[in-house]
Amino acid sequence: MRDSLIHSLVCPYCRGQLVWEFELRVGTEIEEADARCRSCEALYPTRKGVGAFLTSKETAKDMWEVADSQIEGLVMNEPKKIKRLLETPMAAMNPTDLFFRGLVLDSQGRYREGKEARDRALEGMYSPEQHACIRSQMDFVRKRLAGRPGPVVDLASGMGALLEVLLPVATQHLVASDVSPRVLTRDRSLLKDRVQGPGLSLLAFDARRTPFADRSVPTMVSYLGLANIQDPGDLLRELRRIVSGELCAISVFYPKEEGSNADTIRQFKLERLLYCESALRSFREAGFEVRVENAQTVLARPTPEGVILKGAQTDRLPVVETQVEWCTLVAG
Ligand SMILES: C[S@@+](CC[C@H](N)C(=O)[O-])C[C@H]1O[C@@H](n2cnc3c(N)ncnc32)[C@H](O)[C@@H]1O
Repeated sequence: MRDSLIHSLVCPYCRGQLVWEFELRVGTEIEEADARCRSCEALYPTRKGVGAFLTSKETAKDMWEVADSQIEGLVMNEPKKIKRLLETPMAAMNPTDLFFRGLVLDSQGRYREGKEARDRALEGMYSPEQHACIRSQMDFVRKRLAGRPGPVVDLASGMGALLEVLLPVATQHLVASDVSPRVLTRDRSLLKDRVQGPGLSLLAFDARRTPFADRSVPTMVSYLGLANIQDPGDLLRELRRIVSGELCAISVFYPKEEGSNADTIRQFKLERLLYCESALRSFREAGFEVRVENAQTVLARPTPEGVILKGAQTDRLPVVETQVEWCTLVAG
């Protein structure tokens, strides 16, 4: 974590001032430190360069974490399947099995091999039109960042797909964030060779209760981050509190119709973020001015079930083939 960032950070729980004790600094990077809240005394450790600002042990359960927790169950209970996942030639594997092979490799700290498997899986999982649309949204955000002030916070960085595109060209300091410190440890290892310019910080926090002081984030971006936050509650009000400039959120919207997609959207309490009209209303109610940019309609198919891992699936949505709208929401 870059030391210049600490001036923007407060206790995510009570917003008290943080008192820092540094154990290891390398140049402008904080590798090991503890930050304690002067008011409520909560302790926030920075370990191996990843600052953890989590207010409770209860990590948010999103669709991604659900996929990750399937792996934990499998490693514990089905070692034979794990062996098959790791030993079957990649060319003979279905994209879902390949993706889970990547997660198993990640869980063993074999991040490069894990990424190779995950990248090949994603190639097979989505159509060329979907890939082109994703690329177009990321290019839109990349161009939009030109000349904007930093740091730029990437919300819910996950596998770091957006950071991969931004890091080689960004002139701003980038901040990767995710509710999972484990995800950020992997990202740090995989992204360090891509860092150019003013560098990369990594902060673990729940997007619904961030460690940023009021209006201390000049620019925020996210690639499918908002809709991966299950039970978002006051998420947008929290983002309105901290963002002083622009928020560019790459988003996918579903048609508002009853059926199995709607059931899943309801189950994860994502109605306000996965339907365009409701999302725009929610942004406005939170105090943002918001508009839709770079909109494109693309056919989305359900991701396949695993063959080795029968019943396993990477994406919960769509449940049925659906024309979805991709866009970048620009809010400020
Ligand atoms: C699928 S990823 C989004 C893709 C990612 N932005 C990228 O560029 O590759 C979703 C991420 O959201 C994170 N997440 C879920 N709930 C969260 C929360 N409440 N706060 C912050 N991150 C959260 C998950 O841990 C997961 O890594």
